[in-house]
Amino acid sequence: MPATLLLGQTLGFKASPFDRPVDEAVEFNPSGAVLIQDGMIRAVGDRAQLQASNPDAANTDYGDGLIMAGFVDAHAHYPQTAMIASWGKRLIDWLNSYTFPEEQRFDDPAYAAKIATRYFDLTAQNGTTTIASYCTIHPESVTAFFTEAQKRGQRVVAGKTCMDRNAPEGLRDTAQSAYDDSKALLSKWHGLDRLSYAITPRFSPTSTPEQLDAMGALWAEHPDCLMQTHLSEQTDEIAWVKKLFPDARDYLDTYERFGLLGRGGIYGHAIHLEPREKDRLRDVDAALIHCPTSNTFIGSGLFDMSGLMSDGHRIGLATDTGGGSSFSMLRTMAAAYEIGQLRGTALHPAQLLWLATQGSARALGMDEKIGNLATGHEADIVVLNLNSTEAISQRNARAADIWESVFPTIMMGDDRAVQDVWIGGRQI
Ligand code: GUN
Ligand code: ZN
Repeated sequence: MPATLLLGQTLGFKASPFDRPVDEAVEFNPSGAVLIQDGMIRAVGDRAQLQASNPDAANTDYGDGLIMAGFVDAHAHYPQTAMIASWGKRLIDWLNSYTFPEEQRFDDPAYAAKIATRYFDLTAQNGTTTIASYCTIHPESVTAFFTEAQKRGQRVVAGKTCMDRNAPEGLRDTAQSAYDDSKALLSKWHGLDRLSYAITPRFSPTSTPEQLDAMGALWAEHPDCLMQTHLSEQTDEIAWVKKLFPDARDYLDTYERFGLLGRGGIYGHAIHLEPREKDRLRDVDAALIHCPTSNTFIGSGLFDMSGLMSDGHRIGLATDTGGGSSFSMLRTMAAAYEIGQLRGTALHPAQLLWLATQGSARALGMDEKIGNLATGHEADIVVLNLNSTEAISQRNARAADIWESVFPTIMMGDDRAVQDVWIGGRQI
């Protein structure tokens, strides 16, 4: 494959802007270039220099477009695509009223394939190149998701959602079938091309202790797989968990006691955590996923980004589509900023962009491969137009530096700001 040179403003990270001052953490070049070949980023540097050293490369000039790593959405439910923005319910009612009826449709492979295609179209339009998604209890829903991702050459994480209680007939498996189906899917898909399997018990209210135990056993057999679930999203949910597991020390313990706590564990929401839960999550270096548009939309609460970050937690950012109200990681960063403000911490634009790329990639254990504009990384790239609307453009015109320039797009941007997307070195 011939080399391609992308020209524009380039932004990558040398370190986390939560750990280092922004100037030390960020590599920004207003006259930058990215060399890609065979699906990989071969070099990131100065425009003139890389042009001179690669005279045969095809040039794509984005002007003052901002070239950075594609967005990584660390927690989503692709089967909820068609019922996003469903009105008026809190978590448990929302699941029963809107989510479960929609998820029941995924026993039909044709419907699952149709929604998977729509979902990947929508996320690509929004500059998202990697997603960690829940599927439904139906193996067909996993097949549909991985098949579509494989066709598009995308790095994704997904798993069959397991539920054997507190869900309608037709949306329940058993401890044994969840184990067997998950194992079969894992054997088929995990590690194939850019696909990774995540063992996926939905959350403790919809799994019996027997099922959680079976999931823990499966994870112990396949420790290189991720394990994704929900944790402490709403206070009503936590009270229900206490009733269902009277012997558990807390919500996290309903996972921990069944072998479902570990470094490859990805815990969505994690809003209302007890001190013991925070300590254990940090001790094992588990990943927490902030889902800010979902947490405001379903009314769940305000994730403690600055407290958890300064305590050393590994944290990613996610849409939580369709509990989240958007497919866009730009809208998600804006919501994260607003929740930070409500908690008294203004997240820097560099921190928001880091969370949506390196932070999420690190939460998925993939930060060496994706989520950064850096030599040796896979060529998953988004190019942002920082003047995508009149409102954004007029504000950007007054910007004194890159942060003032990109922040209006973070706060007001959407798919119109996504000028181009490259996935695995292919312009899509
Ligand atoms: N908790 C259990 N299932 C779900 C889900 O589908 N969405 C959200 N937001 N929370 C959950
Ligand atoms: Zn979720």
